[in-house]
Amino acid sequence: MIDAKKIKKDFPILKQNINGHRLVYLDSAATTQKPRMVINEIKRYYEQYNANIHRGIHTLAELSTQAYEQAHEKIAEFINADFQEVISTSGATESLNIVANSLTKSLKKGDKIVLTEMEHHSNIVPWQQIAKDRKLKMEFIKLDGFQLDMEHAKEVIDENAKIVAVMHASNVLGTINPVKKIGKLAHDAGALFVVDGAHSIPNMPIDVNDIGCDFFAFSGHKMCSPTGTGALFGKKELLEKMSPFLYGGHMISEVTLKDSRWNELPWKFEAGTANIAGCIGLGYAIDYLKKIGMKNIKNHEEHLAKYTIKQLEEIEDITIYGPQKGERTGTVSFNIKGIHTHDVAAILDKHGIAIRAGNHCAMPLMKILGISGCSRSSPYIYNIIEDIDKLVEAVKEAKHIFKV
Ligand code: ALA
Repeated sequence: MIDAKKIKKDFPILKQNINGHRLVYLDSAATTQKPRMVINEIKRYYEQYNANIHRGIHTLAELSTQAYEQAHEKIAEFINADFQEVISTSGATESLNIVANSLTKSLKKGDKIVLTEMEHHSNIVPWQQIAKDRKLKMEFIKLDGFQLDMEHAKEVIDENAKIVAVMHASNVLGTINPVKKIGKLAHDAGALFVVDGAHSIPNMPIDVNDIGCDFFAFSGHKMCSPTGTGALFGKKELLEKMSPFLYGGHMISEVTLKDSRWNELPWKFEAGTANIAGCIGLGYAIDYLKKIGMKNIKNHEEHLAKYTIKQLEEIEDITIYGPQKGERTGTVSFNIKGIHTHDVAAILDKHGIAIRAGNHCAMPLMKILGISGCSRSSPYIYNIIEDIDKLVEAVKEAKHIFKV
């Protein structure tokens, strides 16, 4: 188990009071807070070694290039990939757009992309828009309760499936999907397998080789790194064959007025000046999380989820959306009968508690659940049991105010 009380002290923002109460931040699936060591390194970058990478001959350029490449190494090591297989991006959304645009280039009318019904918009919209333009088919693995229906997965991942793209952990349900099994189905059918790891990598150890995926996309800002950071892992032999997504400086090795040749991996997919400070920050966030231990973080999340569910279940008229037992992340979504989710969030805010309310960038999932939105508590390494107690007390107060 981790010492969340001690960890909390590393996060300057959590020291403050909001609306006269100690801030209880339970909105980490939207974005996590940032530890002092990440903030300090970004400050140090701008104060001491800000320069563009892979371009200058001067000392500052060498320092920033070294730090940027070191960040790539840290990301690669964190997910058990090779240096050339990790592209720095602005987050999971950009990573998934790179994959969607590049992989679909060779698909023909009628070829199929398989997603799931629980996807975040970032793993639906890029595929959907390309599928519309190119007359590709899309099918969605159905839900069985709050898990994926694996029998249905076997049906839809057939010989027409060319790409299977699945979220590893649900940002709404807290469900952890059996990605190894889905990857095997995809590969047996001859399809490529893409994992959206935005909501799994902050909470558990990730080994892309063990998962057996061809691509793994994630955001840095959900794992203590600055916003606008993230990465795309892709198998080297696939990245080598793929066309670049963005064109411009840095991603080229030679340019004439008639044609251009591409830089080596991973720079071939990193056009223009990167978010250098942000990527260095992601490297520091990884150092920070590794020190705590990803297995410990996973246990902590499960512990908080179990406690949240147990406490909320005792309140009448609450519906919880997500697995109540077993492996899951700390995210717990719920509705209180008769109270709009925005009202719940507003009352909680008055108590200094930050949660997210609404559709959580997963409108199709909301439709399947038969709701327009829900309230979501998403704790992280800095949340203690007392934070959940405060959440539960405020939920009871909301019920009292609305007399439901
Ligand atoms: N994907 C983020 C969330 O789930 C924004 O809140």
